[in-house]
Amino acid sequence: MTKKFHIWTAGCQMNVHDSEKIAGILSESDYGTTGSIEEADLIVLNTCSIREKAEQKFYSELGRLRTLKKNNPNLKIAVAGCIAQQQGNAILKKFPYVDFVFGPDNIDSLQVWIGSGIQTRGNRKQRTALRENPGYHTKTLPMSREGRVRAWVTIMYGCDNFCAYCVVPYTRGRERSRPGRDIYDEVLSLAEQGFKEITLLGQNVNSYGRNLPEDMDFPDLLRMLHKIEGLRRIRFVTSHPRDLSEKLVSTIKDLPKICGHIHLPVQSGSDRILNSMNRGYSYKEYKNKIDMLIKSIPDIAITTDIITGFPGETEEDFQCTLKALAEIEYDGIFAFKYSKRPDTKALHLPDHVDENVKSQRLSEILKIQEIITYKKNKLLEGKVLEVLVEGASETNDKKLTGRTCTNKIVNFYGEKIDIGNFVMIKILEAKLHSLYGEKV
Ligand code: SAH
Ligand code: SF4
Ligand code: F3S
Repeated sequence: MTKKFHIWTAGCQMNVHDSEKIAGILSESDYGTTGSIEEADLIVLNTCSIREKAEQKFYSELGRLRTLKKNNPNLKIAVAGCIAQQQGNAILKKFPYVDFVFGPDNIDSLQVWIGSGIQTRGNRKQRTALRENPGYHTKTLPMSREGRVRAWVTIMYGCDNFCAYCVVPYTRGRERSRPGRDIYDEVLSLAEQGFKEITLLGQNVNSYGRNLPEDMDFPDLLRMLHKIEGLRRIRFVTSHPRDLSEKLVSTIKDLPKICGHIHLPVQSGSDRILNSMNRGYSYKEYKNKIDMLIKSIPDIAITTDIITGFPGETEEDFQCTLKALAEIEYDGIFAFKYSKRPDTKALHLPDHVDENVKSQRLSEILKIQEIITYKKNKLLEGKVLEVLVEGASETNDKKLTGRTCTNKIVNFYGEKIDIGNFVMIKILEAKLHSLYGEKV
């Protein structure tokens, strides 16, 4: 009987994609997947450390597994991801029922652990050193991809930006770009398997290529991938505003497969706060880049991330952020209360903002943005848009769901045979988080 594994995942798209790599390794090693933790012989918790809440969720999940392990001593528990990288040894020490800990740069060490017949509790292992190059930097790990229509492709590892609030440079190490040829081969193989859309992943895709021996930057990579037949859409996350170049904007404009959506995290509208965050741009510089994007690509959708209550943020700073929201009118935002993270510079800044003030500011931002998002979606009513159909809708299996190239979710009644195809949909009704339409 084959053994069963279960993966619990938290965090960003990069982590969700890492879980596909973990699942790939396990599936190749004769493990079958199960949705139930009670049935599993091996549970992997793939963790996120970006905010305190994410960390708390992991510890409560791990706590839940204690009884499970008591009842089934043969159960193996591994902890992966960004908390594993930061807390490695501490986790093994504090939670004697954890068998293996490995960081994002050491996913391939899971292969070795499984291959060596999984260590017993007396032989617990940890693999969390941040490597110069992850072991799989130049080779592709086996992967169990979640969908058959859209796929993620890692183009770089780590981050060198050290934004004052952020743990990522500590959990994912220095920035390293994957060789262009390897990325090309992976995308080519995806297109041959019938995938229509890819999302290129990196913490700062705009600096792709900076540390590669070959002379290649992000726009060059896009041009190379654009030639792949069968591939219809190319997306990427995340862009750092400081490194967004004119060359990239004209590349998005010129190449029809590059989707008209950019996620450009602003974080704050106040120069004082941006400076203290170590973001490397002023609001004016950021706004100039937005203007350049809209001038070249008028239909482009723009989304962003915002942090409320960063240390030292005054009411005046906060008003600057509100002003930025009103001025730019994003298609959507992700907003978060500032959260203290280990190792980061912001931890030691003076004037930490009261928790209630952070919450108030967050809800004000979300309220204002809801009006803007709804207004923007409403403008699409009556329009006919091309939608790549991804699957059945979560709430109603007679409905299908897909996305426009601007990354808007569209639901409509259709046939299962449409899944994986492009259909033209007339938008009948705009909602806050999705659009509803009919096939034309
Ligand atoms: N590399 C991307 C984003 C990485 S994290 C970028 O540079 O934009 C995703 C988002 O989480 C960030 O954009 C930021 O808004 C938020 N975030 C990161 N650290 C945080 C913290 N300590 N508290 C609150 N939000 C945080
Ligand atoms: Fe974190 Fe800044 Fe790097 Fe983004 S660019 S991952 S926010 S350090
Ligand atoms: Fe992603 Fe969370 Fe790590 S956002 S990079 S999994 S800290």
